[in-house]
Amino acid sequence: MCGIVGYVGGRPCKGILFEGLRKLEYRGYDSAGIGVVADGRVEISRSVGNLDNLELILSQVDDAGTTGIAHTRWATHGRPSIENAHPHTDCSGRFAIVLNGIVENYQELRAALQGEGHVFSSETDAEVVAHLIERAYRGSLQDAVVEAYRQMEGHFSYCAVTADEPEVIIGIRKETPLVVGVSEGENFIASAIPAFLAETRSVLFPDDGEVVVVSRDSVRVCTLEGDPVDRPAKTVDWDDEAAEKAGYETFMLKEIYEQPAALADTLAERIAPDGRVVLEGLGLTQEDFRGLERVIIVACGTSYHAGLIGRHALERWARLPVEVEVASEFRYRDPVIGPRCLCIGISQSGETADTLAAMRLARRRGAKVLALTNIVGSQATREADGVLFTRAGLEVGVAATKTFLTQVLAVLLFALHMGEKRGYLEAERVLGLTGKLRRIPTRLREYLESDAVRGVEQAAVRCASQRFFMVLGRNIGLPVALEGALKLKEISYVPTEAYAAGEMKHGPIALLEEGSPVLVVATDASIYDKLVSNVQEVRARGARVIAVASEGNEGIGEMADDIFLVPCTDEMLSPLFGVVPLQLFAYYVAKARGEKVDQPRNLAKTVTVE
Ligand code: F6R
Repeated sequence: MCGIVGYVGGRPCKGILFEGLRKLEYRGYDSAGIGVVADGRVEISRSVGNLDNLELILSQVDDAGTTGIAHTRWATHGRPSIENAHPHTDCSGRFAIVLNGIVENYQELRAALQGEGHVFSSETDAEVVAHLIERAYRGSLQDAVVEAYRQMEGHFSYCAVTADEPEVIIGIRKETPLVVGVSEGENFIASAIPAFLAETRSVLFPDDGEVVVVSRDSVRVCTLEGDPVDRPAKTVDWDDEAAEKAGYETFMLKEIYEQPAALADTLAERIAPDGRVVLEGLGLTQEDFRGLERVIIVACGTSYHAGLIGRHALERWARLPVEVEVASEFRYRDPVIGPRCLCIGISQSGETADTLAAMRLARRRGAKVLALTNIVGSQATREADGVLFTRAGLEVGVAATKTFLTQVLAVLLFALHMGEKRGYLEAERVLGLTGKLRRIPTRLREYLESDAVRGVEQAAVRCASQRFFMVLGRNIGLPVALEGALKLKEISYVPTEAYAAGEMKHGPIALLEEGSPVLVVATDASIYDKLVSNVQEVRARGARVIAVASEGNEGIGEMADDIFLVPCTDEMLSPLFGVVPLQLFAYYVAKARGEKVDQPRNLAKTVTVE
């Protein structure tokens, strides 16, 4: 989820690229850099931290070059550092690249290139691209970029320049955005339109596997074989803010739609070809895996709900007792913790004060601590023995969506890994589950592009004037219900109660009256029949039932006023689908009520105070 921008034209490009980066800063900001082709070489300027640091460095650099590429980084492989910042160059410094995405087979490629004598200067996956181009170059940057592309696995887009062809930028994409800004006597290329919107509104959208050759007076799009592709530019009438939202009306909606990509990024390289889960940097030895007696998960809000899902998976697959604690409560208890205990702090920001305090307490009492976070370099990563990163990219909407889904995926991967390491999961079972996990990003994308979303929107509009919602779930569906209820509270301000469906009869059912809306999460196959009984109970009290069910269980629709069908998968993985219609439902209720979805009242994105 980095930002890239390139320029070729008649004007000095340093300032133009820098302004482009400013517009992309919302995508990531742990380091940044610019590469300008001038005087027979590519001049690279890079810095760590926000763009002000890069600006300082650039003020000392000549303004001669008119072709260049730039990058703002959201670290995935390698910590934020000057060496890991883009652009990356080959051994000779003649070629420079910027990349957005993940090269999944970079370790293999890197080892092969090192074996041939290539010298690497960063820890990133991206640097292999510069060396692959160097190896392939025989007088055509376009051919070398294609040859590199053919050897790379993963999802990415990248741009390359070389001192040998000073007036051209080559770009290419695979399942990762890349757009071209077309203008008079100058052209742009970027990961997102805001980068060049101030300069041109004429935009060309290359497809996956197409090469774009951008020079001062032309933009050519070709297939990998070099055949021309006719892709006329379109005019966009977005303003700056709309462009940052890539055409979505809010960041939250954009982020809901980014979930398939965020899941794919979080999965990348973590499933080996034989189906095993590979997680690095956990800070746990084989002895730890075998010797652990207990897990305590500490987190707040949405992250706490991801922890509840983690409990189900760790108990089922790794046979470990798990407690999940709200961090703000845990930190003031006198918990019994020993060295055979693992504390997992889940925090998308890695900066939530209560979660950090709970992790510190567990550590002081002898537990190993693992941080599960989205932010490289955050406080949680500095205080933990190991880290498991989600790779959701920057989340701007205050209500967490894509960070939640990637947290759920990460805890599931961790539980599978634990189950295997502890000897409770057979290879075949892991293979079956990881096979299902691999398919989830594509299936979720298909769901989000289907008419099902319109159905959720219509149901939300019908319910928008309700004064109260109840959300029921059971087993692994309960955390999904809790998360759906939190979304409703946060952005629509409608009082919402989430409850274990089996507990209804013990009190909350008294709240129901004719027409009370009750959402029921019925995606967990193991307790589907029980939920059907719960649906009948609430229906008998006149409630209006909205069921979230897996495809194949359409039958529940006969008892419900609305049914949101999601793709069917293993029950443990079902939250990855089940929560999405609830996010959308909350979104459309809030929208119908005219609320400001991205900045809900009284809430902050990161709670760094107690
Ligand atoms: C809800 C939400 C909050 C956060 C909570 C923890 O949509 O975003 O409930 O989940 O403040 O934040 P992190 O995960 O950054 O520790």
